[in-house]
Amino acid sequence: MNAKVVIFISGEGSNLQALLDAGLPMEVVLVVSNNPDAGGLQRAERAGVPTWVLDHRLFASREEYDQSLLDKILPLQPDWVILAGFMRRLTAGFVAAFADKLINIHPSLLPKYPGLNTYARALAAGDKEVGSTVHLVTQEVDAGPILAQQSVPVEPSDTVETLKQKVQALEHRLYPRVIGELLSKN
Ligand code: GRF
Repeated sequence: MNAKVVIFISGEGSNLQALLDAGLPMEVVLVVSNNPDAGGLQRAERAGVPTWVLDHRLFASREEYDQSLLDKILPLQPDWVILAGFMRRLTAGFVAAFADKLINIHPSLLPKYPGLNTYARALAAGDKEVGSTVHLVTQEVDAGPILAQQSVPVEPSDTVETLKQKVQALEHRLYPRVIGELLSKN
């Protein structure tokens, strides 16, 4: 039986698209977005995957928001919960509920540059390479055990925008490969 997967997005969903297109042995039982305008929602709909929007702006606290996430997702009994550009920190309770099943992709060579604006920070530091990291999610932001990492050189002409293009192109191969490896262990 194919593994059951829930994928979280907030935006464009290009990594979601790469995962949907990869022909992986998984059933995406739900795509969750905190952002009603996330472009990735249309990508999911085009692929015939169920979507669910839970707008964080309607909740008074992070705890209440994450409890609503749990109420929806726990009954689905996913084998993996994949964050693909989900731009919110998750509470300790949520992370604990999916311990060792919660995966994220972060656009830097962790432990460098957890958090936001990774390309600008790498440029400002004069880094010779940038890249992306797939890691298990733990309570500390962008700090869980690293599953895979891939880099690309920085050229003198690079800007935040060109670095983003290069790293995202790399992510669209890296994430499906790593998720495929995890699925093969199910
Ligand atoms: C990716 O670069 C990912 O590493 C980061 O957010 C970006 C999401 O892009 N966490 P998309 O929504 O998948 O196009």
